[in-house]
Amino acid sequence: MSERRSFVADLDVRQRAMLAEMGVRVWAPRAAPVLAEPAPAGEPAQPVSRETVATRPAVQSDAVRVSPPARSAPVEPAQHRLPAASPAADPALRPRGVDQMDWDALRQAVAGCQACPLHRGRSNTVFSAGDESADWMVVGEAPGENEDLQGEPFVGAAGQLLDRMLQAAGRSRQGQGSQGAYIANVLKCRPPANRNPQPAEIAQCEPFLARQVALLKPRLILAMGRFAVQTLLGSTEPIGRLRGQVHHYQGVPVVVTYHPAYLLRNPIDKRKAWADLCLAMDTAEAG
Ligand code: URA
Repeated sequence: MSERRSFVADLDVRQRAMLAEMGVRVWAPRAAPVLAEPAPAGEPAQPVSRETVATRPAVQSDAVRVSPPARSAPVEPAQHRLPAASPAADPALRPRGVDQMDWDALRQAVAGCQACPLHRGRSNTVFSAGDESADWMVVGEAPGENEDLQGEPFVGAAGQLLDRMLQAAGRSRQGQGSQGAYIANVLKCRPPANRNPQPAEIAQCEPFLARQVALLKPRLILAMGRFAVQTLLGSTEPIGRLRGQVHHYQGVPVVVTYHPAYLLRNPIDKRKAWADLCLAMDTAEAG
């Protein structure tokens, strides 16, 4: 059986339904169409049919140019590189020794951080979700209102889509090891009115994310959205130009994809997000 056929056969009913919920339809040669689980508000349930080709290998060749896993990213043109550090960020305000901290010390340092003005408006810092044994790491942007109130990342509508995407890839925030996904944001505090993170805020917070990566040592990082990508890769290239290749951060393979909030607004791109998940799965398996 070819790799494509065996992957299609490997998709169970629940995974097919989840792909359908993501807006991705699976072509399966012999399987009868499978109806999706109830779709979230605003998104119609879609039958899994042979109309749209979006299996793991097919999407790679169809929707996105995929390089062999573990390939280094090409050197980016200078105009797409961010400055190494923002001049507006004052390192003296950051907690000391972040790069030596264990999990508990890091969690406490984040909880007490006052390195940028965002601490004044927060209800809670948002450190992470997921098990520290998870071998995938998902990096998002910043907490929103619900995340700030609950102290957990991705608990709103975007988080529900993220959970379905992870489940389609055989992972969850409850899972451990090769079934888990550890979720963190670039910023640990909510920007007012959900505005974009500012360079000085990112510069102050980035050491926490760097230490989370160093402690977790994931096999793979999924960078979701512009700010995760800019922070991890130091590139301002559009996501569409960074997808489909394997980048690296601290030696860990990084796959770039769209932010779930963007996908909620642009469901047409969920097919590309599925292709990105396929690249992530292949890369983690190969690593
Ligand atoms: N968007 C993010 O990037 N992170 C969250 O935690 C919630 C929404």
